[in-house]
Amino acid sequence: MYTDKVMDHFSNPRNVGEIENANGVGEVGNASCGDIMKIYLKVEDNVIQDVKFKTFGCGAAIATSSMVTEMAIGKTIDEALVLTNQTVAEALDGLPPAKMHCSNLAADALHEAIKNYKEQNA
Ligand code: FES
Repeated sequence: MYTDKVMDHFSNPRNVGEIENANGVGEVGNASCGDIMKIYLKVEDNVIQDVKFKTFGCGAAIATSSMVTEMAIGKTIDEALVLTNQTVAEALDGLPPAKMHCSNLAADALHEAIKNYKEQNA
């Protein structure tokens, strides 16, 4: 049902935790299942230097959270804004159709954190 990449990121999630002096924080919840994801960003000169996450959710939510952190690190905030639930799911070699909604959490939380960063630095 799940790809090897999903199982890898679920079993060994990357970048778990929080960044103490984060300059962008985003939190989203999935109303249908109650799962919650929070993303912390450390941005310097518009480049994402570090990303950490905390997810209270299903395996697919944890795997997509982990993947989105890896995809965002090193990108400019504008490049990171282009990441979508679709690109995150593709990077994991796909998710079962019933689990595609879980990947929304990861992309949405990242976008919220970038929005928060932009608000702080407007
Ligand atoms: Fe809630 Fe997957 S079931 S995010």
